Amino acid sequence: MARKTFIAGNWKMNKTAAETKALAEALKESLAQFGDTVTMAVCPTFTSLATAVEVLKGSNVKVGAQNIHWADNGAFTGEISGAMLKEIGVEYVIIGHSERRQYFGETDETVNKRIKAALKYELKPIVCIGETLEEREGNKTNCVLAKQLKGGLADLSAADMAKITIAYEPVWAIGTGKTATPEMAQETHAFIRATLAEMFGADVAEATVIQYGGSMKAENAGALTAQKDIDGGLIGGAALKADSFTALIANAQK
Ligand code: PGA
Repeated sequence: MARKTFIAGNWKMNKTAAETKALAEALKESLAQFGDTVTMAVCPTFTSLATAVEVLKGSNVKVGAQNIHWADNGAFTGEISGAMLKEIGVEYVIIGHSERRQYFGETDETVNKRIKAALKYELKPIVCIGETLEEREGNKTNCVLAKQLKGGLADLSAADMAKITIAYEPVWAIGTGKTATPEMAQETHAFIRATLAEMFGADVAEATVIQYGGSMKAENAGALTAQKDIDGGLIGGAALKADSFTALIANAQK
């Protein structure tokens, strides 16, 4: 089964609502050329989500959030629920980004709870996994990724997996300008797919879209997405300008 290339922009804590409006308007125009040949999404910060949804309504660019809490509501200061995201019209949600794991105490267990909440509210999770430099150098990459997959995706069904995208982001490549070589990334993506096959069966593994993330840009997007098991990208820095994001998508098209 052919997997459709999926490129998502993770805007992180960048862009005010006014800046979001300007960038979303530019993207609506510049990404129209790709039609539905590739799945495209932008993930602004919470205060800009409604603006992004409004501007991109009816376009081929979807909108995602960067986090979701697992409870329906309650005493969780600073958090956002699935119902709140759903009401705005958000379609995707990034879960378990390494910055959340590193700075905000995210664990495989909380990732799992957030994924279940997203699915309950019919939001599509983009689940991030990745190893640190120390773990890679200590030959622990596969062990770390298997643990993140098994913990994060615990208790999920094949039907749940149809709604989930995995983003493999080596922590040492995020925002550093260091990219995994296409061959190195492919080897890791193949391992992730094999682990998914072990967990959910070969059909689920074959159908799951696995994005690469970490200093992906127009210049390396073609070589990365040309690899058999790399189905797109989760883009930070290069997603913050219409021209660099558009050029990246043009080169990532298979
Ligand atoms: P980067 O970020 O493209 O700036 O390396 C990717 C990410 O953190 O999702």
